[in-house]
Amino acid sequence: MKLSEKTALITGATSGIGEEFAKRFAELRYNLIITGRRENKINSVAEEIRKYFNVNVEVVIAELSDEKDLEKLIRVIENKKIDMLVNNAGFGLNSFYEEEDINKFLDMETVHVKVPMKITYVVLKDMIKRNNGTIINVSSDGAFLLAPKNAVYASTKAFLKTFTEALNIEIKSKGKNIKLQALCPGLTKTDFHEKMGMDKSRQVNKGMIKWNTPKFIVNSSLEALKKDKVVCIPGAKTKFLIGVLNLLPRKSYYRFMINFCKKNFKNKEKARA
Ligand SMILES: NC(=O)c1ccc[n+]([C@@H]2O[C@H](COP(=O)([O-])OP(=O)(O)OC[C@H]3O[C@@H](n4cnc5c(N)ncnc54)[C@H](OP(=O)(O)O)[C@@H]3O)[C@@H](O)[C@H]2O)c1
Repeated sequence: MKLSEKTALITGATSGIGEEFAKRFAELRYNLIITGRRENKINSVAEEIRKYFNVNVEVVIAELSDEKDLEKLIRVIENKKIDMLVNNAGFGLNSFYEEEDINKFLDMETVHVKVPMKITYVVLKDMIKRNNGTIINVSSDGAFLLAPKNAVYASTKAFLKTFTEALNIEIKSKGKNIKLQALCPGLTKTDFHEKMGMDKSRQVNKGMIKWNTPKFIVNSSLEALKKDKVVCIPGAKTKFLIGVLNLLPRKSYYRFMINFCKKNFKNKEKARA
């Protein structure tokens, strides 16, 4: 079989949404450059992809909050033709702002804001020259739904959404054929919540709470790309929640969120006791 000439760069492909994107693009005959920190795990993802899809997979082990590691990644990609970029790496913190080590929030800002900005800057110039390419920035429903213990996360994800939309306008105003998407998933069954200390057994659907799979998120993203949708919110329930809550006057919205979360946190504390 002829080797592919297209390349996809996916940050944070060790598990979850990034891993699913990697497998899907390999299936679509892209060679891959994937990043992660858990070395054994990402190497076994790469091995599995090489075996099943017969594409090249380059793994870059990088702690993206570390400038040196980011520079290492930039050196790998700067002279390559990247056709598809997925800025996906990200993490959550389950803490009130003033109670957490500020450096963890600053790392979050780096990984969710500065890193996608820098990688996009490197990749976009060549895409513009070739008048071809796609960039998916993995934002979150948190860009629309503000909740306690989420101030920095929601702000960084709102940045990503706005950045993507604004950049899309800029690029289209030049008449360039480059696709941009801000992907805004709701709750998704990945390693994300477990890393924040949430037991997987608590990932259950209840009322308006619906947990999606990475496969569903990636399917929705690829479908939205076909329709040139710039903001993709996978799932009817997530779309509905965002739509309805953001119709409320801001004061009512704040009251709803504060009460909803007070009740939720209280129940969780009771369950832990
Ligand atoms: N799961 C959800 O409910 C949900 C909802 C909305 C948006 N999202 C967003 O979706 C994206 C993917 O998350 P996921 O749910 O698939 O979680 P995941 O399974 O934990 O995957 C996150 C990926 O990002 C990498 N990563 C995290 N922090 C990093 C850092 N400081 N430096 C380098 N790499 C880092 C991880 O690398 P290692 O694992 O190798 O450390 C992993 O490959 C994130 O941007 C997240 O904010 C998730």
